Amino acid sequence: MLATPRARRSAHLLVVVLALLPIAWLALGAARGALGANPVETIEHETGDWALRLLLATLAVTPLRRFAGLAFLAPWRRTLGLLAFAYALLHFATFLVLDLGLDLGALGKEVAKRPYVTLGFAALLLLGPLAITSTRAWQRRLGRRWIALHRLVYPAAGLAVLHFVWLVKADLREPLSYAAGLAALLALRLRR
Ligand code: HEM
Repeated sequence: MLATPRARRSAHLLVVVLALLPIAWLALGAARGALGANPVETIEHETGDWALRLLLATLAVTPLRRFAGLAFLAPWRRTLGLLAFAYALLHFATFLVLDLGLDLGALGKEVAKRPYVTLGFAALLLLGPLAITSTRAWQRRLGRRWIALHRLVYPAAGLAVLHFVWLVKADLREPLSYAAGLAALLALRLRR
């Protein structure tokens, strides 16, 4: 599968393009006024959903390499992780700018008052240092500490899933399916 380096590079690029399509869809929808009755909510939900999907896809790379022999996926982990962080940032920016009118005091109150916002915020704070130190230069500089630092992706994903479970009031099927996906990925991770 994907025998040549060129085919692997093309597949990698295709994944990036596909992962960016939801942003293009949201931008186009916003420009045409086609994001429904509550466009801010639509953007918040779509960016949150994609941040979580891409975070789980990032965590799926190592098991796929290890158990399915897809070694060529190694560089995809950083790409998917950065895409997940980009969606999480966009999600946060939508909330801060479009929902709260860039009022940092109101953000502080929301983080303190609503547990699901606290959990989402904590997940974002954990992902920040991972995105910053995702380069080879940082990997070299931190040595073994880099691996320890990047294990934070697991608690970050846990907090992100809990954030979703907490905010849903009625039908828990969707957030719980992410929780099950994360649990399966963690179980694979623990299996050597
Ligand atoms: C890694 C970080 C994060 C992830 C993966 C994430 C994921 C999600 C997901 C999946 C949803 C539900 C979307 C849906 O209903 O379809 C959501 C909703 C939401 N998130 Fe996040 N989130 C993150 C961080 C944050 C942060 C930092 C904030 C704000 C400080 C935040 C605020 C919200 C709000 C306000 C909603 C909508 C709640 C509602 O329906 O009323 N999230 N998020």
